[in-house]
Amino acid sequence: MLSSPYTSMSRMIVPHATPTPAAPRAVRKAVVPAAGLGTRFLPATKATSKEMLPVVDKPAIQYVVEEAAAAGLDDVLMITGRHKRAIEDHFDHAFELEQALTAKGDTVRLDAVRDPARLADIHHIRQGDPLGLGHAVLCARHHVGDQPFAVLLGDDLIDPRETLLSRMLEVRDRYQGSVVALMEVPPEQIHLYGCAAVEPSGEDGVVRVTGLVEKPSRADAPSRYAVIGRYVLDPAVFGILEHVPPGRGGEIQLTDALQELAAGGTVHGVVFDGLRYDTGDKADYLRTVVQLACDRPDLGPEFTAWLKEFAAGLEGTGAERGRFAA
Ligand code: G1P
Repeated sequence: MLSSPYTSMSRMIVPHATPTPAAPRAVRKAVVPAAGLGTRFLPATKATSKEMLPVVDKPAIQYVVEEAAAAGLDDVLMITGRHKRAIEDHFDHAFELEQALTAKGDTVRLDAVRDPARLADIHHIRQGDPLGLGHAVLCARHHVGDQPFAVLLGDDLIDPRETLLSRMLEVRDRYQGSVVALMEVPPEQIHLYGCAAVEPSGEDGVVRVTGLVEKPSRADAPSRYAVIGRYVLDPAVFGILEHVPPGRGGEIQLTDALQELAAGGTVHGVVFDGLRYDTGDKADYLRTVVQLACDRPDLGPEFTAWLKEFAAGLEGTGAERGRFAA
C-alpha cells in the first residue's frame, strides 16, 4: 500500500492570493485552450477531455491553472470544446462531496476537493468549431480586452518548482510586446513544434525572436529552439488572428500570427532548460505520470523502489516480469 495519498502536490503550490507581486502586474489574465478532440487518447477521451486525464491524482489542467495562479494570474479563461462540463465541474464547488467529507471530518480530502475552485477566478467559453490554436486564442478576445495576457497549453506541464511563467511576465514588463517560452530540442524533434529564429538580446536566457515557423521539417528549421506551450501575448495578436489565413493542417495557427509580430520586432523568447513534462501522446503521458509520481513525497519512495525492481525485472525472463507485474 502506498501511504497518505492526499499529501498532494497542490499542498506545495501557493494559492493565487498569496504571491502578490511587488508592483501590480500588467498581466492578470491567463487563457487555457482545452478544446482539442483528444484523438490520440481515444477511447479514454470519448466522454471527457484530454485535459481531464489524471496525472497521478490531479487532472492535467489543474497543474496548468496552479502554475498560472502561482505566477499571480488570478483570472483564468478556459476555451472549451464538447467536454465543457467536466472541466467546469472540476473548478467549481462539489457540495455533496464536500458535505460528505465534512461529516467524516476528512479535512485533507476536503481541501483537495476545494483547492481547484480556490485557485483563481475561472471562466469558460466554448470555441465552437475547432479551427486551430490561433482561433481558440481569438475566442478569448472579448474576455481579455486590450490587455496583455498569458496562454498556457495543457500538453506541456512545467514543474511547480520552476518559475518560467514569472520570468516571462518580467520580460514582458521590461520589453513590452509578446514573449514565448523556448526550449532547445534535438533536431529530429523540431517538426513537432513551432520553431523560432533568434538573435541574442544581450540578456542571459532572453533572445529576440526574428521569425517563427509552425512545425518545420528538420531541413527548414531556422534553429533548434522549440516553442513550448507558454506565451505572454500583446493584445495586438487579436487583430492579426482575425485575418491570418489557415496555415499548417488547414488551421488558424497562433505561430503564424506571432510570426507577423516577430517580423515587427516585438517578440522575445525566454529560454527554458528546466523541468518540463510532455503529456502530448500516450508514451509521453506515461513518462509524465511516472516522473511526477517518483517526485511525490507521499508516493515517491515506495513507488520508486517498486519501479527499480520492475525495471530490473524487464531485463530478465518473462516469468520474472510476471512476478513484478503482480
Ligand atoms: C502547439 C503549437 C506549437 C507549439 C506546441 C507546444 O502545437 O501550435 O507551435 O510548439 O503547441 O506544445 P500542438 O502540440 O498543439 O500541435
